[in-house]
Amino acid sequence: MTNVLAISGSPAHPSRTYGIVEYASTLLAQEGFHTDIFSVRDFPAEDLVFGRYDRPNLEQPKALLAKDAVIIATPIYKAAYTGLLKTFLDLLPQKALLGKVVLPIATGGTLAHLLAIDYALKPVLSELGARHLLGGVYAVDKQIQRQEDGSIQLEEEIDQRLKHSLHDLVEAVQAHSGVKQLAFN
Ligand SMILES: Cc1cc2nc3c(=O)[nH]c(=O)nc-3n(C[C@H](O)[C@H](O)[C@H](O)COP(=O)(O)O)c2cc1C
Repeated sequence: MTNVLAISGSPAHPSRTYGIVEYASTLLAQEGFHTDIFSVRDFPAEDLVFGRYDRPNLEQPKALLAKDAVIIATPIYKAAYTGLLKTFLDLLPQKALLGKVVLPIATGGTLAHLLAIDYALKPVLSELGARHLLGGVYAVDKQIQRQEDGSIQLEEEIDQRLKHSLHDLVEAVQAHSGVKQLAFN
């Protein structure tokens, strides 16, 4: 079965970013895709801050990276991705995203930093080996309604945008696995 890893880089709880990741995983489940969700805020802070890339704690996220697709989701902080997300990405092997389909997602208080996905996040993902980077989804807070149970509801326009991007992800993974099969036949 095709698998997806979704990483949320928000230090906050509850988190709109995490809510979108959870919602995306339910949409992917409808396509028969299983998603493992990893929140960087659950990782020991000292290991992140002191760059302890050899800790056994990292084995789980590293193993999770052996997936076909990775969603990297972050709130925008100070016009870029969060420092928390960067501490985690810095611990990964140099080409951790090689051969994966990667979908970036960002949430922000304002549309002003819409391009942060392109100018801040994507160069880092490229450095990690990502070659199949999808366009990305940017949602502003007013488009994300938090429900009492902790889940989120998206405004129609951004809901469609997310579904479109997840559709692209599904298609890209299927095409990619087709290429892999051809290589062995
Ligand atoms: C420290 C901090 C810095 C922020 N900086 C920005 C910013 O530069 N641009 C922006 O659009 N939103 C900014 N925001 C708003 C968050 O990106 C936005 O509320 C986001 O949806 C929070 O996601 P979360 O609930 O997953 O943490 C900032 C929020 C915080 C707490």
